[in-house]
Amino acid sequence: MKIKSLKLKNYRNYDLLKLDFDSAANIFYGDNAQGKTNILEAVYIAGTTKSHRGAKDKELIRFGEEESHIEAIVEKNGMEYQLDLHLKKNGSKGIAINKMPIRKASELFGIVNLVFFSPEDLNIIKNGPSERRRFIDMELSQLDRIYLNNLTNYNRIVNQRNHLLKDMGAGRSLKDTLDVWDMQLIQYGEKIIERRREFINRVNEIISYIHKKLTGEREEIQVIYEPSNGSLALEQVLLKNRERDIRIKSTSAGPHRDDICFMVEGLDIRRYGSQGQQRTAALSLKLSEIELVKQAANDTPVLLLDDVLSELDKHRQNYLLDSINDIQTLITCTGVEDFVNHRFSINKVFHVHSGQVTDEN
Ligand SMILES: Nc1ncnc2c1ncn2[C@@H]1O[C@H](COP(=O)(O)OP(=O)(O)O)[C@@H](O)[C@H]1O
Ligand SMILES: [Mg+2]
Repeated sequence: MKIKSLKLKNYRNYDLLKLDFDSAANIFYGDNAQGKTNILEAVYIAGTTKSHRGAKDKELIRFGEEESHIEAIVEKNGMEYQLDLHLKKNGSKGIAINKMPIRKASELFGIVNLVFFSPEDLNIIKNGPSERRRFIDMELSQLDRIYLNNLTNYNRIVNQRNHLLKDMGAGRSLKDTLDVWDMQLIQYGEKIIERRREFINRVNEIISYIHKKLTGEREEIQVIYEPSNGSLALEQVLLKNRERDIRIKSTSAGPHRDDICFMVEGLDIRRYGSQGQQRTAALSLKLSEIELVKQAANDTPVLLLDDVLSELDKHRQNYLLDSINDIQTLITCTGVEDFVNHRFSINKVFHVHSGQVTDEN
């Protein structure tokens, strides 16, 4: 797919903005805090309805305004789609595809495939398990509506179960209700676990080649799914933990506690890897994501590359730029010098300065 254009109204630091993108590489350069990331964020929201940095709708609306509008024209398989999002300060957002309102965000998912890559992604291995779960959930939610649905239900049930555990107190008269929640938790939880396992298997098929290339054939990588229930069934673990869950008033096992382990040359690099190893593995993971989306959606995603190049050394920059030659990219950076020593060809350059964008072509 490709993004052809973007229109913003009262979005973050933009009052009105209209951009036409090139179908290959688009560079947005400018000083800090000028509005570069805001553009990528708006594109991400147009495609997924959510901010990549988890911002709330009211934070996206320009200060002092009540509503904000994002319009994107995208092309997929020769068809054009107009995506409209109306964000409201007080109230839920309105979404439309070709001017027809849709109710569920997941209706967008067949059309839009995006990969967002920001400097924080390079810390995914160093950071805690919740970031790794966020990665896998964001990816699977985009690729698989059923997963998104299961995940939404699962999260709701964990919440309700935790509320119940808090209400139970010493009386423990609500155990029957707990059984009901547990049944549902198992039902959705097992589907999530199965899908995550499949996903990690697919990642492994792709990442080892990329990681070898990135490390000059020096390192072997292996990604291991670590469900919190270990080798036991979720049902068994819930039963085993029940007394403890009642005592601590919280659900101690389930997909909301899963993790992903990264092994390099037999070492768990979450704990024992050097910073360089962790970041290289993170880059390999991100590049695998692009490939995985390509395969799963049978289409090239659009890559939103936010300030990542300056975080990488020349060798890794080159590898990254080489691997994204054939897909549409929106790249932000502070200066275009980043590209001078690369074979990478830039197709469109935009200068971003305090909420104004100049097309320098
Ligand atoms: N809701 C908002 N209304 C107006 N301005 C905003 C809003 N949210 C963020 N900003 C402004 O956007 C700018 C940051 O934009 P950003 O795209 O993150 O910058 P960068 O160019 O460094 O990527 C800041 O100046 C900030 O004050
Ligand atoms: Mg930025």
